Amino acid sequence: MVVKNVCCIGAGYVGGPTCSVIAWKCPDIQVHVVDVSQVRIKQWNSDKLPIYEPGLDEVVKECLGRNLFFSNDIDQAVREADLIFISVNTPSKTYGIGKGRAADLKHIELCARKIAEVAEGHKIVVEKSTVPVRAAESIAHILSANTKPGVSFQVLSNPEFLAEGTAIENLLNPDRVLIGGEESAEGEAAVGELTWIYHHWVPQHNIITLSTWSSELSKLASNAFLAQRVSSINAISALCEATGADVSQVAHAVGKDSRIGSKFLQASVGFGGSCFQKDLLNLVYIAECLNLHEVATYWQQVTDMNEYQRTRFAKRIIGCLFNTVTDKTLAVFGFAFKKNTGDTRESPARFVCSHLLEEGARLNIYDPKVERQQIESDLTSTRATNDPERIEKLIHIYTDPYQAVIDAHAIVILTEWDEFKTYDYKKMLSVMKKPAFLFDGRKIIDHQAVMNLGYHTETIGKRF
Ligand code: NAD
Ligand code: UGA
Repeated sequence: MVVKNVCCIGAGYVGGPTCSVIAWKCPDIQVHVVDVSQVRIKQWNSDKLPIYEPGLDEVVKECLGRNLFFSNDIDQAVREADLIFISVNTPSKTYGIGKGRAADLKHIELCARKIAEVAEGHKIVVEKSTVPVRAAESIAHILSANTKPGVSFQVLSNPEFLAEGTAIENLLNPDRVLIGGEESAEGEAAVGELTWIYHHWVPQHNIITLSTWSSELSKLASNAFLAQRVSSINAISALCEATGADVSQVAHAVGKDSRIGSKFLQASVGFGGSCFQKDLLNLVYIAECLNLHEVATYWQQVTDMNEYQRTRFAKRIIGCLFNTVTDKTLAVFGFAFKKNTGDTRESPARFVCSHLLEEGARLNIYDPKVERQQIESDLTSTRATNDPERIEKLIHIYTDPYQAVIDAHAIVILTEWDEFKTYDYKKMLSVMKKPAFLFDGRKIIDHQAVMNLGYHTETIGKRF
């Protein structure tokens, strides 16, 4: 079999960009991305895509209607596909056993049941979502228990490593592509088909084939290692603030060791994003279920440290503002969990803002890419507060940062958007309350320069 028709269930941050790149690089393959959400599919077919990702618009524009299609017709896309990616969300469970930690696989299971229901002929089913180890076994079980005559399946694991904000670059030049499959002739044939797709643009030496379980665990382990580096440098940042060392200098010195490397050592207000937290907690839960308590405790610390870092920063803001922010106006720059994305899932900004709002601060929030409704719902949802009406009155969303700082007591930088580095902070100072404070939770601006202007400045991992 040569794959001619690919379907992807889930048109989200992974399914959309990944399949757009596949369509772009493989003009000989028809790619259908399907989703239960009518709104999302409508957006993919419009001029304003549902997600902001540098370079994505151009790729979609070139392929849409040529060999890339977005639709809600899941049955037809599955029926016609030779290979089906499952790229649905796998959040932490919010109910029942493992609540708050175990991965919720209900969407994955629904996909498996849908495929079993409508598939005809032979299908390769590819687990693209991040899942607990041995999830592929459950998918295979559901498929085989529902197989009809003339229908057969092979299940592969092909986790995604793209980071938001650099998704297209990561997809075009991946450090590695993992393809996990069954150790059988059929399994190897399926691995060969998926490898053939990636060969359109990824060199062979960057494609790793491995067992399904190793592939699944490698994804969780990779995110755990990355998050651990951020928590490690953030732990050092607390030591720097207490001792007078500078975390940027320490990170540079440590990262120069080629065995350690310099990437992912940027101290911050904490890591966010839809995956680090949930994947770490999933790893912790798996370890606990296997009675590996020391392993669970070890990884739990990475997320505990992240919570400590976010809380520490929020408390520092309050402490510096004479121990009260009640009725004070704070201009918040950045709400996304990192630059170059409009995604706010698990954003440290959400956490810090909620903390400040609970203390009665008025927040003037500006983010270049996050929509007003998103910020409002993030801060007033039941998850964020038990008093949404009070919080609603305290938040004001701005589309101009220079308006956001008028009469503010402080500027709080929570996302590392490049444009924050080039603002006219002198002009901003002139309309702020005095003493004016600047809290840089991302270490992105020239602190000496803003201090020279007259700001009282605080940042992560450094004492002035
Ligand atoms: P997302 O929430 O942006 O998108 C998931 C989509 O799946 C949604 O549009 C939803 O409507 C759809 N969906 C859910 N159930 C469905 C069903 N039964 N049938 C059809 N559509 C259905 O999620 P995401 O960020 O794209 O993440 C998807 C997976 O990829 C997760 O497991 C995540 O851990 C993993 N991952 C995410 C990233 C990232 O940067 N966001 C990176 C690597 C891996
Ligand atoms: C991360 C991984 O980098 C991807 O490889 C993975 O595919 C993805 O999770 C996933 O599974 O969802 P992402 O969350 O999009 O990607 O973004 P990162 O660049 O990893 O940043 C995560 C968070 O850590 C951000 O809040 C970022 O600001 C923070 N961070 C990152 C730091 O605070 N310091 C650093 O040095 C690096």
